[in-house]
Order: sequence, then structure tokens, then C-alpha cells
Amino acid sequence: MANIIDYDLIIVGSGLAGLRATIQAARRNSKIRIAVISKVQVMRSHSVSAEGGTAAVLFPDEGDSIESHIYDTVKGSDFLADQDAAERLCKEMPDEIYQLEHWGMPWSRREDGKLGQRAFGGYSFPRATYASDKVGFFEMQTLYDTCQKFDNIEFLNEWFVTSIIHNEKKFAGITAIELSNGNFYVIKGKALIIATGGAGRIYSFSTYGYSSTPDGIDMAYRAGLALKDMEFVQFHPTGIMPSGILITEGARGEGAYLLNKDGDRFMKKYASKLMELAPRDIVSRSIMTEIKEGRGFKHETGVDCMKLDLRHVGDKIIKQKLGGIREISLKFSGVDPAKDLLDIRPVCHYMMGGIHTDINGASELQGVWAAGEAACVSIHGSNRLGANSTSECLVWGKITGDEAVNYIEKGSSVASFPTDLVNAEEKRIYDGIFRGKGQVNPYEVRQKLTDTLNDKAYVYRNQTDLLEGLKKVRELKAMTWKHVDDQAKEYNTNFSNVMELDSMFRVAEVVLIGAINRKESRGSHARTDFPKRDDKKFLHHTLAYYDPEEPIMKKHPVTITNYKPVERKY
Ligand code: FUM
Repeated sequence: MANIIDYDLIIVGSGLAGLRATIQAARRNSKIRIAVISKVQVMRSHSVSAEGGTAAVLFPDEGDSIESHIYDTVKGSDFLADQDAAERLCKEMPDEIYQLEHWGMPWSRREDGKLGQRAFGGYSFPRATYASDKVGFFEMQTLYDTCQKFDNIEFLNEWFVTSIIHNEKKFAGITAIELSNGNFYVIKGKALIIATGGAGRIYSFSTYGYSSTPDGIDMAYRAGLALKDMEFVQFHPTGIMPSGILITEGARGEGAYLLNKDGDRFMKKYASKLMELAPRDIVSRSIMTEIKEGRGFKHETGVDCMKLDLRHVGDKIIKQKLGGIREISLKFSGVDPAKDLLDIRPVCHYMMGGIHTDINGASELQGVWAAGEAACVSIHGSNRLGANSTSECLVWGKITGDEAVNYIEKGSSVASFPTDLVNAEEKRIYDGIFRGKGQVNPYEVRQKLTDTLNDKAYVYRNQTDLLEGLKKVRELKAMTWKHVDDQAKEYNTNFSNVMELDSMFRVAEVVLIGAINRKESRGSHARTDFPKRDDKKFLHHTLAYYDPEEPIMKKHPVTITNYKPVERKY
């Protein structure tokens, strides 16, 4: 039997989007009882790993403009972003930077005392607002501190949320397991914001924390909500070898070069104006082309890579502005970036896709919103510009916090609580997973699944690889890995790992089927077998709805306001 508790607003996920939504809701209405539920401790949310910056226009007097930020974002997305959403992001961002400042964010400063901004890929102006190269950590600390001011916020840390309970397309609550004791709960609520972040751990070479699995977006998918544009997975050009930990684009923003085996700054061939600061999809493709044409390096692990050169940036600037990546390079690769070249390779870093929402973050289920990387509003289309993700978390955290409070204040509620869904969920978890039977090691299966995504759906893709990838994923899915050998109730990580793997399979399938269906493509989903541009077929969003057999795929229009799609040149 499930334990039952209730709140007014449930926010799942304690990263930037979740905390920003929490603060907005708490300050709007002090009577609303808010639960922030996370499978990790707050400061272990993956947002703390954000490094290089948060994009906003702060200096119109020095030549920047909101219009330019909007256009850069839309162009960077290869015109697949919804332009009204990109406009909203860019217009609302400057206030968010100052709001954080007022809450105590230690932004780095220029010599003249104004806020520091650095160059980032695909922008016409340096607009990545930074705090050394630990932006996410300081933003999270600032928001978490701010949450402490409100009496109506409760943090349920280390709770694994498993499903959304709804009745007649209206939100009723969630089910969750308290990891410290293994107890199963029904948490009733009036509104839900899903802010569980991205799912980049479906790839083995990834900048994401190990907890960045798709359980949050998968529970939305299983509840009947569409996942949008999941084929667009961003590969950041500079994951350090061999771990894949992020070396911020801020390094290139501070002047670092990308070099091939001949010592050439090869980006001059691919993006003669922006060079190393072209958008990520272009830089990652350029690296892979250089490697394919024999101008890459072999890392000692046998994997191909390229070099990042920061030596000319100098020890002083590196220590002052890039202290985090200096530490990462030294500790994880044994390289001092002031003295030696770094081995880097494109690494899974972000999912442009996510839970399909409208421009207010509302999902297709009444009373449910999604914000941050878990959502696809869509602002980033086929390729996000660096520093626009933390921006999105802040803006849509605020928007969804507001929207959820408006909804709760209207007093809408479900006619009756559907206990049959709770019973079915308990059966799925305990009979289907916890007491499941099988011989196959789920950890080995997880490794094989993530390697398959890496091998078959990486920077360049084609039909043969994608079909092979899907076949392999389905073979792995059919194996008897769904069992939990450790039957302990307290902090059973064996159990949560198998739960995560279960969600990884469903979402990996959506990524691959979306990628197979979208033929001519650009941005992060680059198909070598369809080289000729075809705007007509390209300009749509992909929607995937859950079906136990296989996802039901649909198309959704792209909102175009001011900018006609054209071929991108940088
Ligand atoms: O390179 C970076 O610092 C990453 C930033 C981002 O993904 O927005």
C-alpha cells in the first residue's frame, strides 16, 4: 500500500529551471505549498556543471541588441526554432541576469566594474555572462540560497519519481519512491512542473552527470505526452579525452585554437569568419571531417581526437577565467593547458528535444508544465547556441512558476483520484522490475546501449547506421536485464539503476526513430545520405507519442515570425 501525502505544486527536478520555478511560485503566493522533488541532493543537480556562460543582451549602448540575439539564436537553430519562443527568451533574459545579481550571484566583472561577458559560438556579440567558468555552480548556489527565504517550499531530496497520475487529461499527482527507505508514495497535487533536465546519459561519451537519465521525460511520455524533436542531440566540440568532461566553449571564447595533425587551425576552411567560434554543430562536424580525412590524432585509448591549444591564452588568464577547466585538465587528463595541448573530441552535451510544450511551457496534460532541458518549447531547433540553455532554464522556470500559480489559484481539481493508475504503477515497478527475473547483467546492458547510441547516432548519421542502431537497441531491450539482485530497501542503487535503464530504452528508441524518419537534415542531426538541402521537408517538428509496440510519430509546424530560412554561413 502506498503512503499518501499532498502539496499544491509539485516541481520535479532541482536544477536551474526547477529552482527558478520554485522561487517564482513561492514569491507569487505564500499560501501555496510547494514540493521540490529530486532523485539527488539539490547541489548535485546537473546544472551545477554548467561552465561557460548565460546569454543575454546587457550592453545595447555598446552595439549589442535583442534583435541580434534573436536572429543569432534562430540562425543557430538552422531555422527550426519557434521564432516567437526565441524572441521571448532574448527579451526576458536581461532582467534575469540582474535578478540573479540581486539575489547574490557573483558575476565576473570587467575592469570598469560592469558585468563581464565573453564570446561564445554563433553570436554576433560577446553575450555569455559569466562567473569564471563555474556559472552553473554559482547560479545554483544563488537560487538555492534564495529558496531558503520562503517557508512554503519543501525539498524532498533523493526521491525517485516514477509516474504522473492523471484523470481525464487533468493532473492529479505523482508516484515516487523515497530512496533512503524504499517506501512507495502517492503525492497528490494540483499542478506539476517537470524540470528533470536532459537525458544525455543515453550516450556513453557524455558531458552529463551519471544521474542525467531520461526517467523524467519518460514518465511524461508514458503518461501520453509527446516528446518533440528528440533526434536533435547536441555534440559539444570539446569533450576532454578520455573522460568526456566538458571543456567550456569559454576556452575558445578566451582565444583557444583548434588544431589538426598538420598544426592548422582547420576551422578557417569551414567557417572563415567565426573560426573556432562557429556554432557547435558546425565545429563538431568539422572536427569529424578532419578526422575522417586523416588529419586527426590517435589518443592513447585508440580513439580519434583533435587538439585544443590554450598555451597562448597564458597561465594568468587561464587561472583567472578558466580555473575550472584547468583543474579538470590537470586532474582528469594530467595536462596543464598553459603548457600542453588538450585532446578533445565531440561529446554528447545537450538535447534540443524534450517534452512538447507551448510557448508558456504548458504540456498537453492540464496542470502539467515542463521547463529547462526536459522541455522542448522549442527555442533551439536543430542546434542550440552555447549559453542559451541556462538562459532558457531561468526564463521558462519563471514563466512556468507563474503559470502554475495562476492555474492553482483558479481552483481547478480532478473529479476523482484514479487509484487504478497507482496500482498499475506499483505493479510495473515491483512485479515488473524489483521482483523481475533474469540472468543478464543490467549494467553491461546499459554500457552496450550507450555505446550503441555513440556508434550509430553520433555527429554524422546515415540510414544504415541508424537502422543497425535501432536493431541493436531492440535486441538489448528484449534481454532479461529487468531484475534487481539487491533486495535492500535503503538506498538501493541497483534498483534505481534498473529503473533508469528502463527509461533509457524507451527514449533511445524515440531518438533513433526520429533520426531515421527525418531524412534531409541539418544542425545536430546531420545525414550524410541526404546532402541536398530541402527546406520544405525539413521545416517541421517531430512528435513521438508512447505506444507499447513502438512510438507513434507525428509532425508539428514550426512558428516562423520574422526570419525566412536561408543557408547558414559563418
Ligand atoms: O561550453 C560551455 O560552457 C557550455 C555551455 C552551454 O552548453 O550552454
